[in-house]
Amino acid sequence: MILSIESSCDDSSIAVTEIATKKLLFHKKISQELDHAKYGGVVPELAARLHATALPRILEQTKPFFPDLKAVAVTNAPGLAVTLVEGVTMAKALAIALDLPLIGVNHLHGHIYSLFLERESAFPMTVLLVSGGHTQVIDAKGYKDFSLIAQTMDDSFGESFDKVAKMLGLGYPGGPIVEAYAQKGDENRFDFTVPLANSGKIAFSYSGLKNQVRLQIAALGEEISDQDRYDICASFQRVATAHLLQKLKKIFKTRTISDFAIVGGASANLYLREKIEALCGEFGASLHLAPLAYCSDNAAMIGRCGIEGYLRGDFTDYRELVSSPRSAL
Ligand code: KG4
Ligand code: ZN
Repeated sequence: MILSIESSCDDSSIAVTEIATKKLLFHKKISQELDHAKYGGVVPELAARLHATALPRILEQTKPFFPDLKAVAVTNAPGLAVTLVEGVTMAKALAIALDLPLIGVNHLHGHIYSLFLERESAFPMTVLLVSGGHTQVIDAKGYKDFSLIAQTMDDSFGESFDKVAKMLGLGYPGGPIVEAYAQKGDENRFDFTVPLANSGKIAFSYSGLKNQVRLQIAALGEEISDQDRYDICASFQRVATAHLLQKLKKIFKTRTISDFAIVGGASANLYLREKIEALCGEFGASLHLAPLAYCSDNAAMIGRCGIEGYLRGDFTDYRELVSSPRSAL
């Protein structure tokens, strides 16, 4: 079995997975959403302090598995510097105490392996990663064989939902709230422009759209009604998704893609899933998705990726395992 730890942002999570069968034997996650909600975003130092109490509480429950552990996997990049170190320190301590090898897992690789929970991996695949920190299209050929096709030039898709929710005073994380508000709104009421619509560039940008929403909220002023909020969320979600679709269409036209996947916290968005399903249908590609419960950050996906490292002997000496907040794919 492999024990895995995730603490790159505001979720404290530990999993135990059987190496041979990939079966998830234990998975627990303590989310800090309520603790950060009043700030409209994650406060790194607060998140780190909460990990310091939550992770040991979860670890306690995994003690019965200790005799059967073969390795410890941990997210070591990218993420918030002060929260990554909480998981990495725990992983190192465990590896030394139980005399186990350590596997540092790139968080983005982990999201890709959320597609292969409790099953064998299957590559090649073109993957859209939409999370709070990233918006990327990745050419995924195999274990650690990932290259970037496109990425955002500024804010990420998920982050733009968080910012819109914050501007409307709706709380954190914004993604699920904005999606729920959008369901009650008229998506054609506000005519926000689709970012980079007239640019041939294969890249994403959300800062301009965020600003359009900000100006619209200001124009509505103090009189803003609930219906206005629903309509803003619906119009914003339509344009944010249309932007992804326009650029993805260009990518589909220039490459042969038979298997396409969406991963990351924002891949739980049902509006996005529906639109991308139609796009895949248009180009004859199969769409792969992670189970809804494992789209956002979790240790199960880190363990699943860690198993691939274990099977290849891809270990890191504990003295050399460092957390790298800005690490790329
Ligand atoms: O993957 P994740 O848990 O953390 C990072 O690696 O960043 O993604 C969290 C992000 C947040 O920005 C959250 O608002 C967004 O995913 N998100 C959504 C939805 N659910 C979560 N965005 C849009 N629609 C959703 N339903
Ligand atoms: Zn993530």
